[in-house]
Amino acid sequence: MNKLIKSGAAIVAAMAFAGCCCSESKTDGACGADVCSKEQAVVETIMTRRSVRDYKSEPVDREQMAKIIECGIYAPSAMNMQPWAVRVVDAPDFLDGVTAIAVEQMPQLKEQEGFRNFFRNAPTVAFVACPEESYSGEYDCGLLSENMMLAAWSMGIGSCCLGSVVPVMTSEAAKPYLERLNFPEGYKLMVGIAFGYPAGDTPEAPARDASKAYYVE
Ligand SMILES: Cc1cc2nc3c(=O)[nH]c(=O)nc-3n(C[C@H](O)[C@H](O)[C@H](O)COP(=O)(O)O)c2cc1C
Repeated sequence: MNKLIKSGAAIVAAMAFAGCCCSESKTDGACGADVCSKEQAVVETIMTRRSVRDYKSEPVDREQMAKIIECGIYAPSAMNMQPWAVRVVDAPDFLDGVTAIAVEQMPQLKEQEGFRNFFRNAPTVAFVACPEESYSGEYDCGLLSENMMLAAWSMGIGSCCLGSVVPVMTSEAAKPYLERLNFPEGYKLMVGIAFGYPAGDTPEAPARDASKAYYVE
């Protein structure tokens, strides 16, 4: 037990260290400054990314969004099957139409401070779907989604994974919107991802439970 606690503590210490600078072993010898700054950039992006829940109304620039999607599809997938389907929407009539349906189903949404739309006020939303039957489609879609969110954050674009859009988008009332996404036959909607330029301060990181990961000796 003691060993487990010690290993857990070592991982936490490593996590904290990784967040501030390059590890000693990489600053001398084979790895040069380039490796160090790449490590810093990746670690900083991962550690500072937060779910953003308030956005400016301007949609994400489509060239930037293309880069974000490209980063998504460069995620690993089992046997490189790339089992995802991604649809990006920045059409106000679509987002407002789904919002109206969501409000009808959950009138309390309107009571949220500053409520403008059901997608945490995002002007651009990516819908991610995967095959209903697949080897590891859900896992692969998760990797794609995180790649997109990290790429966005590195470009100053906020994001928020939204599982809550699934029951609304798959409800009878939203059928025309789901059909507009034109997912291949046999695909199911996994998640919506809000994207946009953040309107406020970056939220604090919710606490993480470091005891969930440790070395086994
Ligand atoms: C699969 C998934 C579904 C989520 N669904 C929602 C959601 O419906 N609404 C929301 O505001 N945040 C949602 N989140 C965001 C989480 O609440 C958030 O990632 C978590 O609290 C950690 O905060 P952080 O992303 O700022 O580190 C979802 C995240 C994931 C991975």
